[in-house]
Amino acid sequence: MDIILPPIDIQYLNLEQQIMKLDKSFEKLEYSKALESDQEAMQWLTKNNNTFGQFVGGKFVSKKNAETITVVNPANNTSLAQIEIADEKLVDLAVKSAGEAQEKWYKSGGHARAKVLYALARLIQKNARVISVLETLDNGKPIRESRDADIPLAVRHFYYHAGWAQLQDSELKNSEPVGVVAQIIPWNFPFLMLAWKISPALAMGNAIVLKPAENTPLTAMFFAGLCEEAGVPAGVINIINGAGATGAALAAHPDVNKVAFTGSTPVGRAIRKSTAGQGKKLTLELGGKSAFVVFEDADLDSVVEGVVDAIWYNQGEVCCAGSRLLVQAGVEEILVKKLKARMANLRFGNPLDKSIDVGSLVSSDQFTQISQMVKEGLKSGGELFSHDQPDSTCNYYPPSIVTDVDSSHPLVQEEIFGPVLVVSSFRTQDEAIKLANNTRYGLAASVWSENINRAMHVAPGLIAGVVWINCHNKFDASCGFGGVKESGYGREGGKEGLFEYLKPVKSEYHSSIMPVRPNGLASKQEIDKTLKFYIGGKQTRPDGGNSVQVLNADGSTAAFVGLGNRKDLRNAVSAAKKAQNWSGKSGHLKAQILYYFAENLSNRKDEFVKRLQTSCGSSKKEATSEFDETISRLFSYAAWADKYDGAAHNAPYRGVTMALPEAIGVIGMIAPEEQPLLNAISLIAPAVAMGNCVVFVAGERHSNIVLELVSVMETSDIPGGVINIIAGDVKELAPHLAGHGEVESVWAWADKEVIKDVETLSAENLKRTWCHENNDRNWLKTQESEGVEFLRQATQVKNIWTPYGD
Ligand code: NAI
Ligand code: MG
Repeated sequence: MDIILPPIDIQYLNLEQQIMKLDKSFEKLEYSKALESDQEAMQWLTKNNNTFGQFVGGKFVSKKNAETITVVNPANNTSLAQIEIADEKLVDLAVKSAGEAQEKWYKSGGHARAKVLYALARLIQKNARVISVLETLDNGKPIRESRDADIPLAVRHFYYHAGWAQLQDSELKNSEPVGVVAQIIPWNFPFLMLAWKISPALAMGNAIVLKPAENTPLTAMFFAGLCEEAGVPAGVINIINGAGATGAALAAHPDVNKVAFTGSTPVGRAIRKSTAGQGKKLTLELGGKSAFVVFEDADLDSVVEGVVDAIWYNQGEVCCAGSRLLVQAGVEEILVKKLKARMANLRFGNPLDKSIDVGSLVSSDQFTQISQMVKEGLKSGGELFSHDQPDSTCNYYPPSIVTDVDSSHPLVQEEIFGPVLVVSSFRTQDEAIKLANNTRYGLAASVWSENINRAMHVAPGLIAGVVWINCHNKFDASCGFGGVKESGYGREGGKEGLFEYLKPVKSEYHSSIMPVRPNGLASKQEIDKTLKFYIGGKQTRPDGGNSVQVLNADGSTAAFVGLGNRKDLRNAVSAAKKAQNWSGKSGHLKAQILYYFAENLSNRKDEFVKRLQTSCGSSKKEATSEFDETISRLFSYAAWADKYDGAAHNAPYRGVTMALPEAIGVIGMIAPEEQPLLNAISLIAPAVAMGNCVVFVAGERHSNIVLELVSVMETSDIPGGVINIIAGDVKELAPHLAGHGEVESVWAWADKEVIKDVETLSAENLKRTWCHENNDRNWLKTQESEGVEFLRQATQVKNIWTPYGD
């Protein structure tokens, strides 16, 4: 074995002197450049004449005199290629070719699809080097990241979802693909986002039209070139180029059945509005201002590395970047000092250099935006620290820290989308949770503490779709990712992500106006009764003091019912909001209350059966089965209350990721007219069983039936505010419900106009919606009116990452 001796001049010093001397010489050592070759990527660009059209129907389509966009390498502001902009005709062509290919693709079966996804994974792996280089050239991110994170994770998504294609028939019964899916992705993880979007949609049997971001389309074009070899049938994957106008045309195309968007919150809102009333499924993965919460008992050296991953990874151009550092006061000073020291060791340089940590921002636009935002923000106070100056020639923005800011500071509230960390402190655990949640976003958060009890207590309290314990920015195909609040809705990855690309199989159902079938029972009803609302656990008169007559099937008066207005609705929402600690009650307790409610209701069976007969004109048999099914449904959701479990996802790291279904919050409901007793319970019970509070707007025609339930609810130990019921003109109430900032989700069965209003207004606070044009199902049919479809709508999955070991 060779013995390596230190240089002669230090050989004769004692050990301590030798170490000191060596230390000094290391300080002076320069890193040598370790450039990854761009030759293969450049050759590929040249082979394509540095020009790309659209990938439609399995072919690259180019149009003479098409408008183009220049694709730029942000590290040196030089042009890499031109992309043609897909106009409306090309968007239409892409959607058509997807539409033509979809059914055959689905029918080819799970195994056939699994093989194609597997082949894609293999081909990406084989081409990983050139794809990584292209990604770095186009986006400016360090090659170390594209090579070690973006591309391997993309590969993992295809493998993982190949598995779901294989298992679809056995594990995802009673569902089918949505159809034609439009996917619009951003520039921060161009290839990885492509994989996140395409792999689940493809696996489940959908056909796809994907639009990459206009400033980073190259790896998507490379991917298009792999599709044929992987055996993707023509038309199943289409990739079109262009900017906002192309994206807008694609999202709003009438033959698109689902839109999946990742990008900025304003564009997400615009898409919600432009697709309102079109009956499309929609998932939005939007911005964030994720908290990075450090307790005094955290391992501060790990925290420092965590911050590097959280905010300086990918130049901070990460939707879930840990951009708000909240640190417990006692360790603030020392942590900031450590961070500043660590920042000095972050290396900036050519993104193709394998030993650099920080690359270029994606574009000069992004460079200008971040520079201005920080400059502007500092006018409201705060201290900026960085070791370097911004440099527009290579769109380099230095890793930065802003201290001395409070929670209302614009740099603490707004998404910067760059390598800028804002630091503020807290004293107590409760204050930490409050501050962390003091944002309109809710994408992600991380908790840092060596005390597992504390971490596991704080994690569920953070309002976010993903929570990392003692880590940040960890991702895997097996774990769902996505936000709450203004960070959007829907999940990508994990089993939970598959449902975004599936719809339940339903039998054909034709909604019909209730037949008038006089049966002579009306005379036995008490006609002078005025039914009140149920708000905050109390029977309440309508604010306006007005009531309307509700008629029986034979035209006689069934009851007078309060006519609710905006104020009643607001009162109901605020009662629901106040009752939200319901979500923290045990499943067992929720079950007990639902059983008790069922028991009290069944004591009044004869009365309700008669009411259903007279009000709806149902036969005794029909009314009886509606009533019996109602009781059974209450039992079902009482059963589910402590059985709708989450999952422990099997991600490739030492740890476990818990996927917990959490309550959404306040759910507003607009009920259909048919089977009024049964539909009310079919909607209210799953929501309440999962810990939500409900504002239920009864269908106008038979609102008396639902309001009669109030007296049963009153005696059933349901905490005040958990269920609130009002009635009135649905057309008038629906927009108030959908526009209300404290309502987190709206379920609606209503006419087209009402649905369009609901979806449009939901954009304001980006609440979730679950809308159905008119009544779309027979509520007596358990398979389509009860169970997991409802429970999924009543919950959102939070993924909590908990690494273990030292
Ligand atoms: P953007 O939201 O405008 O772009 C994302 C994608 O949407 C691109 O493919 C774009 O062409 C497309 N698009 C733009 N307008 C559209 C429209 N009206 N209809 C349909 N598609 C449309 O994001 P942009 O302008 O590139 O970045 C602006 C800011 O957005 C960033 O500074 C950052 O704050 C945020 N952002 C957040 C991302 C996230 O992952 N949450 C990703 C990218 C940007
Ligand atoms: Mg570019």
